[in-house]
Amino acid sequence: MQKIPALKGFHDLLPSRARTWRWVEGVAHEIFPSFGFSYISTPILERSELFTRSLGTITDIVEKEMYTFEDWDGKKVSLRPEGTASVVRAYLSADGVTTHPVKYYYMGPMFRHERPQAGRLRQFHQIGAEILGEGGGRQDVELLSLLSHFLQKLGIPDGILEINSLGCSLCRPPYRNRLLTYLQPFLSQLCEDCQRRYHANPLRVLDCKQEHCVEIAFKAPGQVDHLCLPCGDHFKEVEGGLHLLSIPYRIRPSLVRGLDYYTKTAFEWTINRLGAQSAVAAGGRYDGLIEELGGASTPAVGFAIGMERLMQLVTEDHAPSRFPLLYIAPLGKSAADYLTPLLFLLRTKGIYCEMGDDRTPLKHLLKRADRIGFLNVLIVGEAEMNRGAAILRNMKTQCQENVLFLGLEETLLKCFGAEGGI
Ligand code: HAM
Repeated sequence: MQKIPALKGFHDLLPSRARTWRWVEGVAHEIFPSFGFSYISTPILERSELFTRSLGTITDIVEKEMYTFEDWDGKKVSLRPEGTASVVRAYLSADGVTTHPVKYYYMGPMFRHERPQAGRLRQFHQIGAEILGEGGGRQDVELLSLLSHFLQKLGIPDGILEINSLGCSLCRPPYRNRLLTYLQPFLSQLCEDCQRRYHANPLRVLDCKQEHCVEIAFKAPGQVDHLCLPCGDHFKEVEGGLHLLSIPYRIRPSLVRGLDYYTKTAFEWTINRLGAQSAVAAGGRYDGLIEELGGASTPAVGFAIGMERLMQLVTEDHAPSRFPLLYIAPLGKSAADYLTPLLFLLRTKGIYCEMGDDRTPLKHLLKRADRIGFLNVLIVGEAEMNRGAAILRNMKTQCQENVLFLGLEETLLKCFGAEGGI
């Protein structure tokens, strides 16, 4: 029979990396609540409309990357390509949210049918945070300080924070016209996608990765130089807050995001050693989204970190492994029956122990215990059953001692339990 490979862009998380992965998630579960964020989990499958309405119809994600299909009842549904829209939907459907701001964080898989490459997958994972209900630049900085602290905690100090402002419904239309005027002479030189974007959503031209479009976009006017007074003040507040917290940053006027819901602040945390997909985290303010999804006008801001990109940076195995303490070697069925409750009890006390197969010769059981790295082996065969004492073998020194069945559990717990240690 042929093996069935995983889908392209869909990866397994194997035990060798899973410990570090869970350690990273654990650090998030520790740090995010200490910044006042509550954990939220939303469904992976949503009505497609949630994303088409939130992310914008002229975005790569909605146009060509969503995993969309008809549910059995004919409803159009999509695997979530990101978490923000779902968090807003959940916020709007939760009763009794009366105190603002609401601060949520989440983690889990997202799905985009992109061209897979290093750091870009079709199923990837994000850790995200959102602040709903506060419109000041202070909240943008609060999120960036959380992100900065989280990366520091993971031992990733070398990122660059790039920020921009995308303005609001007041200052974006005149800026859009300026951009159109600038791009017009280059129209025929833009890639096919950008020629379409020019008419539908010209800001997206600034985000194009085609070399020639990048060159043209490089000299384009930046929104940050054409902000209305409130947006300008907001941007200054963000810059001021970053200075106060000594978070280094640089302004990138061409920074537009792949999602249309952003207003005012947009940012990316990039790390050069990640290569082409250098944004380990990204986000921004989305003051219009909650209203767009049927709520009252409510400002909001958030970010999401790409877990797979983060994992490329966390190279050291930070996670403490469970120390293989005791291997139980039963020689024959009656020994195995006698030792099974003991195995269970030691495990419930947090002692990492395994039991070998009772039909396997002792020589092979010892080899196996050694390969896994067990420091001690408890041997019980017919002779030990008869005399009421097991053999405890130290694999390092190869010394053996007898341990009476009477009080065996207590003896082992004393030896290997949290208090006793070895
Ligand atoms: P995004 O920029 O689309 O924003 O994704 C955020 C991060 O997720 C990226 O910086 C990257 O690290 C990771 N990422 C995105 N796509 C992939 C992929 N195909 N493979 C691997 N990693 C990927 C959002 O998703 C927004 N929801 C962020 C946000 C939250 N804005 C406001 N609140």
